[in-house]
Amino acid sequence: MRSYRIESFGILICFLSAVSLAIPSHFVEKSVLFSQKLLEQPDITKSWTSHLISYLTHSWQSSYDTKGTAPNDDFEEWLEKQHNRAVYRIVENIGGALGTTDDIADGAVIASPSRFHPDYFYQWTRDAAITVNYLVQRLDDSKFNDTELDLPRVIESYILNSYRLQRLTNPSGNFETLSGLGEPKFMPDSTPFSGPWGRPQRDGPGLRAITISNYLNLLEKYNQEISSDELHNSSFIYEQIIKPDLRYITKYWSSSGFDLWEEIDSYHLFTSLTQLKALMMGMELSSRFKDQEFHTTLVVAFNALRFFILVDSGFQPSDYPFLIETPSLVAKGRRCGLDMASILATLQAHDVDNQDDTLFIPFPVTDSSVMNTLSALVDDMKYRYPINHKYIGLPVGFALGRYPEDIYDGYGISEGNPWFISTATAAELIYKLVYSLSMNSQSIVITPQQMKSLSRVLPIQYVISGQNLVVSSKAESYNVILDSLLKYADTFLQIIKEHVDADGHMSEQFNRYSGFLEGVEDLTWSYGSFWSATRWRSKAIAAVQN
Ligand SMILES: *[C@@H]1O[C@H](CO)[C@@H](O)[C@H](O)[C@H]1NC(C)=O
Ligand SMILES: *[C@@H]1O[C@H](CO)[C@@H](O)[C@H](O)[C@H]1NC(C)=O
Repeated sequence: MRSYRIESFGILICFLSAVSLAIPSHFVEKSVLFSQKLLEQPDITKSWTSHLISYLTHSWQSSYDTKGTAPNDDFEEWLEKQHNRAVYRIVENIGGALGTTDDIADGAVIASPSRFHPDYFYQWTRDAAITVNYLVQRLDDSKFNDTELDLPRVIESYILNSYRLQRLTNPSGNFETLSGLGEPKFMPDSTPFSGPWGRPQRDGPGLRAITISNYLNLLEKYNQEISSDELHNSSFIYEQIIKPDLRYITKYWSSSGFDLWEEIDSYHLFTSLTQLKALMMGMELSSRFKDQEFHTTLVVAFNALRFFILVDSGFQPSDYPFLIETPSLVAKGRRCGLDMASILATLQAHDVDNQDDTLFIPFPVTDSSVMNTLSALVDDMKYRYPINHKYIGLPVGFALGRYPEDIYDGYGISEGNPWFISTATAAELIYKLVYSLSMNSQSIVITPQQMKSLSRVLPIQYVISGQNLVVSSKAESYNVILDSLLKYADTFLQIIKEHVDADGHMSEQFNRYSGFLEGVEDLTWSYGSFWSATRWRSKAIAAVQN
């Protein structure tokens, strides 16, 4: 993630999606043999009826039966333990959260405690916003009563630290022109970082606005007040902290910047989509605070950015089977466009309980282009990373990295590895998909692009056809497929279980050959992404069982 400008690398090999994959012949999978007893469901699209296979006779049984018992108690036990460890490891990386810290400012979220090989002992606006957003969600899960970690105090210290960082003149600029808000990283004591870096990065202000807006919404939901004297009240936070970040987006969304992996100066789906979500939340807040003029400014920017994302950007060309994270790299022939960042974008930019997000923000979890992107990443990376080879042909998920052409190994440049963030993110996407389908009794649609990947993990048979497989929520097989999706998502978390150390420590990466921890230790975001995946696992299981 963190090497400054590793843009000019050599030859890139890119498997252009599943479509033109050159695979060594011993990897070619035999078609999975399912029982030939067919389910005759009238509401399954007719031409596909014969490809939905009876699940009950299949050896791989549903694990989420009505009794709610799962077959693998070890795994369940580990998940619970690791879920709790993860939140503690996040909080351990926040200044002042568990006691006083010498060289970390109160509320500063360090990316990792590691100070050398590699040095991540800094605070990144993006990593901090994403991980504190998980703490806001945990506070919500506790109904604003987290006696264990005193999360309101921790979150408010993050907000106050954000107020100070916003006002620091730094190499990206200053507060007066707003340009300084695009600075990606600061010292742990909340002073500017003056070394060379890929800057500006324009995703930080939006992500921070999302997190802080979520906290204000939580205060409203539970009828609570700000406790910090220095932060005064919600209206102060809206005016002084959220609004400058939103103004930054209205001013700079159409300017290029570095991507979330800090390597490429261009336009990126992750940046644009999370900016759009921030504007949407800003529209709600500005109404609540009766800030009419600014509301209008936000609506204008929202419509323009949305049009850019859907039409002008090239993030979703009609002839492409998946989302393109950075279209300029594809145009130059340097990358195929596949990137876990696009999945992260969907997850950060959509609150799956908010119907407006689904309607107005492109690429919700139920949009087939999102699962197509994950399927294509899986189809590439299961071959790319040797630790995955032993599982090829089995109905399981695989260790996933950032993007196919990645050559950052966690210390320098050689070969890319699987990442904890990416592997947990795959699981979270599928849990959220199951949750959304189930809550809305929405039909399951499996596109031709997804067939290749999903036919191995769902009770469906892979055949080449141009049509979607549609399973209505009234079909008997509906819950069977949702169960299979849950089980599939679990297998990504099982990979994580295999690669953490005995105390559940997570680095940034794990080695593509040996599977051992690699790159920076105790990356805050690794714990955050795992915590979030397991949170959505519980929600998805509950939704299916209801
Ligand atoms: C908060 O949680 C604690 C312990 O979990 C409980 O004793 C207390 O009653 C709760 N308070 C409220 C207001 O729900
Ligand atoms: C919020 O706090 C600010 C700063 O102390 C104060 O000027 C303002 O009147 C307060 N607003 C509300 C609604 O309490």
